[in-house]
This record gives sequence, C-alpha cells and structure tokens, in this order.
Amino acid sequence: MKKLGVAVIGTGFWGKNHARVYKELDSTELVAICDGNAERAKSVAAQFGVKAYTSSARMLKNENIEAVSVCTWSTSLAMEALKALRVGKHVLVEKPMATNTKQAQKLLATAEENKLHFTVGLLMRFIPGVQHTREAVQNKEIGELVCATAKRVSQWPERIGDVGVVKDTAIHDIDVMRYIYNEDPIAVYAKTGSMRHRKFEDYAQIMLTYEGGKSAFIESNWLTPYKTRTLTVTGSEAIMRLDYITQELWIEAAKQNVQPKYPWQEPLKLELQHFADCVLNKQKPIVTGEDGFKALKIAEAALLSSEKNKAIKLR
Ligand SMILES: NC(=O)c1ccc[n+]([C@@H]2O[C@H](COP(=O)([O-])OP(=O)(O)OC[C@H]3O[C@@H](n4cnc5c(N)ncnc54)[C@H](O)[C@@H]3O)[C@@H](O)[C@H]2O)c1
Repeated sequence: MKKLGVAVIGTGFWGKNHARVYKELDSTELVAICDGNAERAKSVAAQFGVKAYTSSARMLKNENIEAVSVCTWSTSLAMEALKALRVGKHVLVEKPMATNTKQAQKLLATAEENKLHFTVGLLMRFIPGVQHTREAVQNKEIGELVCATAKRVSQWPERIGDVGVVKDTAIHDIDVMRYIYNEDPIAVYAKTGSMRHRKFEDYAQIMLTYEGGKSAFIESNWLTPYKTRTLTVTGSEAIMRLDYITQELWIEAAKQNVQPKYPWQEPLKLELQHFADCVLNKQKPIVTGEDGFKALKIAEAALLSSEKNKAIKLR
C-alpha cells in the first residue's frame, strides 16, 4: 500500500500528537518534523526517529514530504501553511487557520490555484456523537430543530497567548453549529470580556440566529476551574445531549430515553486518517478550507458584535 509522506510544522503540545498519530497510522509515513525551538525539534524528532528542522523552508525541499500538518502558534499558522502550499504540499492547518479572514482567503486561493488538498483542524466533526447528532437533526429524528447550546469552559491554558478564547476555543462550537444545522447563521450577537488575560478576551457568550427563528448559543471561557465540553440540541420532539470529553450521547424524548453507544475513539486519529485518505484517493474532505474560512468569519463578527454592542448580520 502506498503511504503518504508527511511532516509536522510546530511540535508543541498539539503538534507532537500529530507526529505520534502519523507514526501510528498505516497509511502515513512521518518523514520529518520542524519546530522553531531547536531543543524541542531535536527531542521530538528523536522520539519519533525522524529528521529535525528548525526552518520549514528547508524541510519543505524534501520531496518525500507530500503533505504537512501545520500546528504552530495561531499567529504563524497562515504564514507556514502558505509556504507549504506554494511549494506544492497538501496541507492540514490547525484551527483557527489564520488570525484574520484576509489571510485565510489567501490560503484558499493558493490551494485552489495549485490544485492541492487543503483542510482545517476543526476536530469536533470527527467525534462519532457529533456525526450522529447531525444525521438525527437532518433526518428530523428529534422533530423540528429549535436551538442548540454549547459549553466549552476550562482554566486558561497559559501557553495560548496569541489569540483570545473566541478564535481559539469557541471556533470549534461555531463550526459544530454550522455542521449540525447544515446552514449558515444569518446574524451573530456576542458579549466578550477579559478577567485574567491581559491582551485578549477570556470569556465569550455568542448567540447565532438562523432563518425560521432557530438559534444557537455558545458559552466559552478560560475562567472555569474545571473542564466542561457539552452540546445540547433541542428539537420539537426530543433533545440530544453530547459530552465531548467522554463522547457519551443521550437522546431524551417524552416517552423514552436512548443512549447510542460508540466505543471511545481518538478524534485526532480519525481526522488524520481522513486527511491521508482524502489526499491519497483525491476525495473531498469533511472539513473544507471554506468551512475553516466561514468559522473564522463568524468568530471575527462575534468579536465585532461585542465591541459595537450590536448584532452583526452575516449575509
Ligand atoms: N484542533 C484542536 O483541537 C487543537 C487542540 C490544541 C491546539 N490546537 C492548535 O494547534 C496549534 C498549536 O497549539 P499548541 O497548544 O501545540 O501550542 P504550543 O505553544 O504548545 O506549540 C506551538 C509550537 O509551534 C512552534 N512554532 C511557532 N511558530 C513556528 C514556526 N513559524 N515554525 C516552526 N515552529 C513554530 C513553537 O516553537 C511551539 O513549539 C494552535 O494553532 C492551536 O489552536 C488545535
């Protein structure tokens, strides 16, 4: 079987997991890793038995590398993804993909011009319970969709200092709402603020409104002392509740409750397997570059809404 030659740019907390998963998958061959921090690059490369680089430009000259994961700080994602696309590599760029939609647009255009596979690390779509929820909503198994509420709160992971909680964290839920509603919101209203973080917002409440009176509410913060990551979807006949951490899903109706069982699966493994399959078989990904762009656009609008204290139209 042909293996896809891959590399990882940025091997901190998250990029190290990308490297590990690429080593574990049968369809990928980890060729090299790159990190601007020479010590880290050396130790991660030694752990996985691959070549270490501190310059991505030098690493990308290696022709055995066909695809890369970009897992640098959020503010350097777009620059590194662009470099890789310009030299003909397929790219999975971590969320939020770029610090603004202008940079994100450039990535989409470059991938298209060079006919490369391009996707964004919006990981939640790979959790089986999210896919089940989407299907149940689309098939009206819970009746008419009314609203959904997502909560993603924890203490501030202090290594994240270059974007706020909206672009770093709430972006996952913005994307999940787009995915399960299978449509784009028409407006966003948000309140954000900062309690501990000096430069960026560390809490956000975001409301998305849709055609026909449906709405979605997202609560995100880096203030809660423990980690909660949940999704509740209300339909006219039943509600669905998902715990992202345990991956447990409940469907509760007036007459009966059911709990579809899935074995816990590592979302990153599912995501990177899908990335490799899509590149090798030239398939359309579950998360397109356009999906990444739209999630970032809604995140930007949420920040603007809070600043202007008014709802922002998205169409
Ligand atoms: N999809 C998810 O669920 C998920 C989870 C965690 C993190 N992330 C994303 O992954 C990215 C990394 O997050 P993290 O928590 O690992 O951060 P981190 O600070 O632990 O690691 C970032 C690493 O990138 C390196 N780096 C920065 N700029 C570089 C460059 N230009 N070239 C090479 N190396 C560079 C740094 O030296 C550091 O080792 C962020 O964009 C974050 O949003 C996504």
